[in-house]
Amino acid sequence: MITKVVKIDESNISREAVQEAGRILAGGGLVAFPTETVYGLGANGMDARAAAKIYEAKGRPSDNPLILHIARMEELEPLAAEIPEEARALASAFWPGPMTMILKKTAAVPYETTGGLETVAVRMPSHPVANGIISAAGVPIAAPSANKSGRPSPTKASHVIEDMDGKIDMIVDGGEVGIGLESTIIDVSEGIPTVLRPGYITMDMIRRITGRAELDKASMGQMAPGVHPKAPGMKYRHYAPKAELTIFRGRPETSAAAISAALKKAASEGKKAGVICTEESIGFYEAPVKKCVGSRRDPETIAHNLYDVLRAFDEERVDCIFSESFEDNSLSGAIMNRLIKASGHRIVECQE
Ligand code: TXA
Ligand code: MG
Repeated sequence: MITKVVKIDESNISREAVQEAGRILAGGGLVAFPTETVYGLGANGMDARAAAKIYEAKGRPSDNPLILHIARMEELEPLAAEIPEEARALASAFWPGPMTMILKKTAAVPYETTGGLETVAVRMPSHPVANGIISAAGVPIAAPSANKSGRPSPTKASHVIEDMDGKIDMIVDGGEVGIGLESTIIDVSEGIPTVLRPGYITMDMIRRITGRAELDKASMGQMAPGVHPKAPGMKYRHYAPKAELTIFRGRPETSAAAISAALKKAASEGKKAGVICTEESIGFYEAPVKKCVGSRRDPETIAHNLYDVLRAFDEERVDCIFSESFEDNSLSGAIMNRLIKASGHRIVECQE
């Protein structure tokens, strides 16, 4: 399959490209497109065969369900068997935007899309290109992040090309995405709204709307045997660069000292090590490869840069990567969540 790559300018969206992407999707094909969070790999979410193609292109386990993307609120009713008051309130506060809700599914949603679950994940993206393509397709679009399963999510078209060229019909290149981390996933299908995957929409923002919310315990920590995260995707090693990644958790100064010691040890063993650091600490390390994700004062920039930095290490052919840690609340908490997954829970606790 030859993948067509079409550039699109967000301030002057080509109707032709959007219509073409919509036609491919409606016809059962695969199109990657930008959203405000990460690039998505779209297929007709109501067509079991089209959804199956996504799993094949990504190499994704078929028990890992997909998010259905809609362009208008009316499109939610046919997908969700029940829309609780809290879900309506969250939708009016955060849609279109970087929030996915888990709801009880209707019979119209194929099990191939939900990984066999009785619930469905739905999101209304705010990116004008995503919105235009979904509208043009005229059906809900199943769209996981457009990376090979296990790799960091794509935040620019070149990442998508790396992973998907030759496997899908079309890539719409809308430049770099804004946020850089996947949407916040909130389960509103029963009980207290529960965040299954932290993201740009934080617990505080959710509580301001619903008055109550919980964080799924399995979403951050190492999973105890028998504890399963409610979002099946969160159990896999994810967002991972090719080299082994270790996170040094502790106060910035303490973890920087521990990373320096680890760098010396790696050098003495003849290993090429890389460091994920911040503007505040980059001058402190002596390392073969240093990648700065931004300033600690600006978590939005760190979120935006994280996946690009993780991917960039693959080109440097490092043997191991050491990363600083971030606070585990708000957007920094979402950053830590992705780092922990990328490391496969390889964490060094740095003592004072
Ligand atoms: O920002 C995003 O959400 C991006 C863009 C493209 O919209 N999409 C995305 O999709 O991150 P994906 O497939 O990479 O991640 C979907 C996550 C997985 O962890 C999956 O297990 C979870 O959503 N999920 C989907 N349906 C679910 C359901 N019914 N119950 C619980 N978790 C679900
Ligand atoms: Mg993904």
